[in-house]
Amino acid sequence: MIRTPHISCGILGGITRQTVIDLARQDGLTVHEEFMTLYDLFSADEAFLTGTAAEVIPLISLDNKKIGCGTPGEITGRIMNLFREATKVGDAF
Ligand SMILES: Cc1ncc(COP(=O)(O)O)c(C=O)c1O
Repeated sequence: MIRTPHISCGILGGITRQTVIDLARQDGLTVHEEFMTLYDLFSADEAFLTGTAAEVIPLISLDNKKIGCGTPGEITGRIMNLFREATKVGDAF
């Protein structure tokens, strides 16, 4: 299951975030948009960030504390692959 703060928490409803939510659901993952705390983040098995420039990147630590094992997680890798595949364009030449 993937959890992300609900828009009502004050986050930007980014297009990359929404694309990731849609791709994850299409791939059979459950995505909950809900109120979240820092505790939720620190106790997560893994975490990732989304944005137009970074696309999808693993978040392995915060404030010198590991998130999960402190390495990119399995779901994160799956999401990165889904996003890469969905946004792939043809060769430039
Ligand atoms: C505060 C904030 N959150 C998230 C994002 C990512 O949004 P998007 O996925 O649309 O790039 C941005 C991008 O500018 C931002 O400024």
